[in-house]
Amino acid sequence: MTDANRVLIFDTTLRDGEQSPGATMSHAEKLEIASLLDEMGVDIIEAGFPIASEGDFAAVSEIARAAQNATICGLARANFKDIDRCWEAVKHAKSPRIHTFIGTSPLHRQIPNLTQDEMAERIHETVTHARNLCDNVQWSPMDATRTEFDYLCRVIEIAIKAGASTINIPDTVGYTAPRESAELIRRLIAEIPGAADVVFATHCHNDLGMATANSLAAVEAGARQIECTINGLGERAGNTALEEVVMAVKTRHDIMPFTTGVDTTKIMHISRRVATVSGFAVQPNKAIVGKNAFAHESGIHQDGMLKNPENFEIMRPEDVGLSATNLVMGKHSGRAALRSKLAELGYEMGDNQLKDVFVRFKELADRKKEVFDDDLVALMRDASTDPADEYLKVKFLRVVCGTQAPQSADITLTVAGEDQQATAQGDGPVDAAFNAVKAIYPHNARLQLYQVHAVTEGTDAQATVTVRMEEDGVLATGEAADTDTVVASAKAYVTALNRLRVRKEKLGGKDTREVSYKDAG
Ligand code: KIV
Ligand code: ZN
Repeated sequence: MTDANRVLIFDTTLRDGEQSPGATMSHAEKLEIASLLDEMGVDIIEAGFPIASEGDFAAVSEIARAAQNATICGLARANFKDIDRCWEAVKHAKSPRIHTFIGTSPLHRQIPNLTQDEMAERIHETVTHARNLCDNVQWSPMDATRTEFDYLCRVIEIAIKAGASTINIPDTVGYTAPRESAELIRRLIAEIPGAADVVFATHCHNDLGMATANSLAAVEAGARQIECTINGLGERAGNTALEEVVMAVKTRHDIMPFTTGVDTTKIMHISRRVATVSGFAVQPNKAIVGKNAFAHESGIHQDGMLKNPENFEIMRPEDVGLSATNLVMGKHSGRAALRSKLAELGYEMGDNQLKDVFVRFKELADRKKEVFDDDLVALMRDASTDPADEYLKVKFLRVVCGTQAPQSADITLTVAGEDQQATAQGDGPVDAAFNAVKAIYPHNARLQLYQVHAVTEGTDAQATVTVRMEEDGVLATGEAADTDTVVASAKAYVTALNRLRVRKEKLGGKDTREVSYKDAG
């Protein structure tokens, strides 16, 4: 094993991941995710797109100031204004990086309407400008996998000569396949003068479900940086999933002798946090982080597992931060047991926070005989400390439902500390509850997503409800858990409304993504 086999992990959950429609994260949530990424040993964190909005700029700046280990990177299109703004945000980091890009394929060249020569000149100017500001510059030819090979070589050579030290090869539309991905990297490294002196990165989208395979193939061909997101979060079908590449090289070290600096035991916790704050639940059968990824533990393979876990396990649950034993908590469990269980699940907390959580845990344990790990995670998701979530609160809810329509809801909300009551009817109890909220807090937001998940098995299981709302292009997601699905729904709904209110105030009604890649030239 040599250092030549060390692969850098570049996480873009907060930039490319957050770009997926609806995946909005609050400022506090972005800082939390960045700190978890930093702690888990990710090498480079792409913290955002600073020119896109004041919010993005503030988040990148603060993440840059706070990062302890990781390089902090910001994205910039190929113009001086973007690059300057990016530098202003990342310069606070111990190790800053500017990532600048332009679409180089025939289709993408048409967007800024530049000839090949004009674009080559633009690349020279912008990479030089970025390099004058920052020692660490990454350059990407967007849609590289659909760019003519000769032109791709030409512009990469220009970027290297202008001072880029990382060349990223994006498969922007998820078009490539493993053999082709490897071949492209191999040829670029072999044929471009100066290629041996820079790091080649691979950035794959998952439109054909091949992102992880394409990334690993690129590494086998010489790429030494993988760009990825937690849970594969990202536009359309998403990006390469961090947990997949990291666990693949760890588990199949025999055929892929690469290493990363990621502490894999932190994977489960960050995966759950990203699912919560982005509002994108992880599908149960998702590799590594899905609820069923280790389900054989308690399923039909139990006998084989007891004889030898390797019969059915290619990696241990502990390796990704799942506890080996799912110690069940109940109403007799004490505060110390709760603290240690939560720490095991990745939640460290001070005495005051523990006090609140303990009260909520006892309430849950009274309603539910056995409290499983997943119940505690749902409880923690619900225990928001974000002041934005305090404006509207559900204090009381009673619904009348059944076969006899109409269903109705009687609700008391605390609005800025004052109780207000309303009764409304609806098409089902959830609709009635939402109508009652609207009667107290009128709004024009549109419901974009309403999702219910049972946290564990059994009819007394908690339901986790996710609600996504949109108004004037601004999106916000709320999530809540309760053994009563209608209560969880009403709580998630008001959380989404609270967040929408704060976002709209901050943005003055503008979407954070007002700046699009269409202006990439
Ligand atoms: O997919 C892509 O091309 C990108 C670039 C901005 C690197 O995300
Ligand atoms: Zn991308």
